[in-house]
Amino acid sequence: MVKQIEHLGIAVESIDATVKTFEALLGTECYKEEMVESEGVRTAFLMVGTSKIELLEATNENSAIAKYLQKNRGGFHHVAFEVDDIEAELKRLEGEGFQLIHQTPKGGADNKRIAFLHPKSTHGLLVELCQERTD
Ligand code: CO
Repeated sequence: MVKQIEHLGIAVESIDATVKTFEALLGTECYKEEMVESEGVRTAFLMVGTSKIELLEATNENSAIAKYLQKNRGGFHHVAFEVDDIEAELKRLEGEGFQLIHQTPKGGADNKRIAFLHPKSTHGLLVELCQERTD
């Protein structure tokens, strides 16, 4: 079951150069910064009510964020939906005909297990599923 929008991912050239803008916009301070080496990203999170904004900066040129920024200006990158059972949702969505980027969940930032759907099957929207890690 999809529970809520957990966060919106925003691609930026530099977290250091942009985090103050988002802090001023939202009137709140970034509460966490975290590297995700497996994805080649540095992340920073700000709360918006019960949802979050995730800023994403590439840490190497093979990062999906580096490739995204070669084709696009920075800005909206992905929506992350919180789910109660990520394996069950991946199975359900595959059954519905969605194309999965990750067949099984992997470790993500902010204590999450995550998996992405291919934007080909969502009319161009990059969708992340995430579930709080409990181990
Ligand atoms: Co995300």
